[in-house]
Amino acid sequence: MTHRMILNETSYFGSGAIAHLVEEVTRRDFKKALVVTDKDLIKYGVVGKVTTLLDNASLPYEIYDEVVPNPTISVVQNGVAHFKASKADYLIAIGGGSPQDTCKAIGIIINNPEFADVRSLEGVAATKRPSVPIFAIPTTSGTAAEVTINYVITDEEKRRKFVCVDPHDIPIVAIIDADMMTSMPASLKAATGIDALTHAIEGFTTKGAWELTDMMHIKAIEIISRSLRDSVAGKAQGVEEMALGQYIAGMGFSNVGLGLVHGMAHPLGAFYNTPHGVANAILLPHIMAWNADYTGEKFRAIAVAMGVKDVQNMSISKAREAAIQAVKQLSQDVDIPARLRQVGVKEEDIPALAQAAFDDVCTGGNPRSTSVEEIKALYQSIF
Ligand SMILES: NC(=O)c1ccc[n+]([C@@H]2O[C@H](COP(=O)([O-])OP(=O)(O)OC[C@H]3O[C@@H](n4cnc5c(N)ncnc54)[C@H](O)[C@@H]3O)[C@@H](O)[C@H]2O)c1
Ligand SMILES: [Fe+2]
Repeated sequence: MTHRMILNETSYFGSGAIAHLVEEVTRRDFKKALVVTDKDLIKYGVVGKVTTLLDNASLPYEIYDEVVPNPTISVVQNGVAHFKASKADYLIAIGGGSPQDTCKAIGIIINNPEFADVRSLEGVAATKRPSVPIFAIPTTSGTAAEVTINYVITDEEKRRKFVCVDPHDIPIVAIIDADMMTSMPASLKAATGIDALTHAIEGFTTKGAWELTDMMHIKAIEIISRSLRDSVAGKAQGVEEMALGQYIAGMGFSNVGLGLVHGMAHPLGAFYNTPHGVANAILLPHIMAWNADYTGEKFRAIAVAMGVKDVQNMSISKAREAAIQAVKQLSQDVDIPARLRQVGVKEEDIPALAQAAFDDVCTGGNPRSTSVEEIKALYQSIF
């Protein structure tokens, strides 16, 4: 059995880490950046924290700010046109998963123009050349897109979200600076934080999990479950710890895959534009309960990492229940809704949602194999 691990070439952590951007650009002798971001991040002054550094160092750049949450094919294609017009030679992604993912798709298409339709990048795409070099600066603490080899694009016409998996898209430099995240409203911190917890739990229990990624996922579960409440409450240390916890989860899951929570969350994003973290948060405890008998001792380890007392003395079924309860409690404490109907899901869409979830790349990694009928019943029970 062999395993592959792909990570950033260089990463920086800690408040103030963004100051290292200039030296990393300069030592690679890049000439001009296209900054990929969204309009809100400009409005909140988050992008300004980076462009001020570039301005002070006289490093030229242009900004592409048309990214929207759950980014679409046309957002990517416009970005490709902007990149070409700008004559840039590298990319800087500033934002949550949406700008990060858009940036990866742009960088891949520029160097692999045979995939310009975007749709053909779904799954494991046979690209031949690495992306245009990407510097990734996350502003949410959730997706870990800065260290993953995945990106997720929405096909509006076909009403679906598709996952692209490609080692060629890994950002060369990631700067994980909590100062870029403090402006997140509490609800965004909560949703993206539960996304990160979902990555850690699904990555820990996915079919391809192994010792090295288990180490990352269990540490991520521990950090996220002790710091998410504080982060949502606006405490600086909580925000800083979440920035690290979500990244560690990304180091793991990017290399082994996820599971049915993500498989079922993606169609919700495509159908209703549901924020990705909220979709995961609602589904997570239910899918954990459904998977429980297929996870060996792993839920016991999750309960321990989440700080549940006396787990070692529990029967395995009690330990599994304790892990699920700890996840439910955390979601509740950060005010995540509990039912799909509360976020605009329509009951009549459930058959189509179930088919899309079954077809999703993430679903194959789930520890318990499933069918369209079972997924339908799961959506119905969480409705
Ligand atoms: N590439 C991967 O491995 C991966 C993993 C999980 C999810 N995703 C994808 O990432 C996307 C979700 O990303 P996300 O949850 O990070 O959110 P997002 O990027 O969609 O951003 C959501 C909103 O939050 C705002 N925002 C972001 N940072 C902010 C800040 N610091 N202050 C104030 N507002 C801020 C944005 O302007 C935007 O309006 C989904 O499309 C999802 O499918 C990708
Ligand atoms: Fe996710």
